[in-house]
Amino acid sequence: EDPRTGNKEKVGLRVVDRGFLNTAVIQSYITFIDGDRGILRYRGYPIEQLAEQSNFLETSYLLIWGELPSKSQYDRFHDEVMNHSTTHVDIEHVFKSFRYDAHPMSILTSVFAALGSYYPEANPSLQGQNLFTKKDLASVQNMDKQIYRLIGKAPTLAAMAYRVRQGRHFITPPPGLSYTGAFLYQMDCLGQAEYKPNPVLERALDILFILHADHEMNASTTTVLQAGSSLTDPYSAIATGCASLYGPLHGGANEAVIRMLISIGSPDNVPAFLEQVKRREKLLSGFGHRVYKTTDPRSRIIRRTADEVFKVTGKDPLIETAMRLHDMALKDEYFVKRNLYPNVDFCGLIYKAMGFPLDFFPVLFAVPRVVGWIAHWRQMMLSPDGVKIWRPRQIYIGPEERAYEPIGQRQ
Ligand code: ACO
Repeated sequence: EDPRTGNKEKVGLRVVDRGFLNTAVIQSYITFIDGDRGILRYRGYPIEQLAEQSNFLETSYLLIWGELPSKSQYDRFHDEVMNHSTTHVDIEHVFKSFRYDAHPMSILTSVFAALGSYYPEANPSLQGQNLFTKKDLASVQNMDKQIYRLIGKAPTLAAMAYRVRQGRHFITPPPGLSYTGAFLYQMDCLGQAEYKPNPVLERALDILFILHADHEMNASTTTVLQAGSSLTDPYSAIATGCASLYGPLHGGANEAVIRMLISIGSPDNVPAFLEQVKRREKLLSGFGHRVYKTTDPRSRIIRRTADEVFKVTGKDPLIETAMRLHDMALKDEYFVKRNLYPNVDFCGLIYKAMGFPLDFFPVLFAVPRVVGWIAHWRQMMLSPDGVKIWRPRQIYIGPEERAYEPIGQRQ
């Protein structure tokens, strides 16, 4: 009861939960993680089975709509996504306004936000504030159209962020390529009509996209839902996800891993580096996870995928340093005591072997994670309970009331 007004408020116990260690913000049907046993499932399907037998678009359908698609549902979804992969020609001007050395995550974040301005039918302030919470057929179809657009355009925007920094023209892939094949084409292809991506590298990238597609309430997904809870448009919500993913504690960690390995220099320097980590002078990027207190199940799949990729590309010299680091950290009491195991970010070694520049690695995380962000956003928008704005409380510990002093009278 509010002592001043006598109004009864429905509030529970208010606690500070720094970093949300114990706060569940939603109930979800999408992704299950058991961090103690190293289990990850999308809609009930083990990640190992999906990585082995599914492909990225099929897994995307599963994450968003809850079931594996039939052949005709898959074909329709595939065509919708691929048909929405091109961008309005004016988007090119947005790309061209960046410095030649801009970080591609800065570019991607900005361009996702800008994209929303091209689709007024997705703008709640123009179309009515509960646009995406309506459950009639036309409203859900409008929502799904934005979803096809976002998934279709994500790799195109990523490739444009790559090419603009090299002063190269933007290109459109020929029809018939897969989602990841078309992405690889746009990344580096000089426009040969006969281009065929290397099937081993294409499949490896597809597997990595499956592994990165969702991970329940990670920082960026939470950010998307936080923004989405005010009923903003999905393009703006996805842009906030990109911004959150950019940080080195989250999606930026795959880039940080390689920079760390380069700075260590050789396997001989690993023991000294680990001592610096233990003295808290350095961060061991690619290790530790808020949820996994054992090996991240995705890291085993990444290791197998890396072996396949290295057969094509040859081994990167950084592997020796990475292996020494991995083996020593797993035996070291400091890391054992804190349950610190390798996370998914050692996949940077695969990206490097495939020729992607270092600062592009977080983008390779963002493109597939768009699907997870959308799956959670759609689930929240269509929740039978409606959408409740995410407005957490705080415990105020600042000064008591005090009187304003004009500037000339302050000490
Ligand atoms: N290197 C050294 N020590 C670490 C590391 C690390 N990578 N990760 C955690 N620790 C230590 C902390 O210092 C802390 O020690 P203390 O209890 O003595 O103070 C203890 O382990 C617990 O760590 P927290 O930081 O409390 O764990 P939290 O769950 O808050 O953080 C995080 C998780 C951010 C992933 C952290 O492990 C980290 O910074 N890792 C390196 C960055 C990284 O790889 N991020 C990618 C995460 S996965 C992803 O986004 C795909």
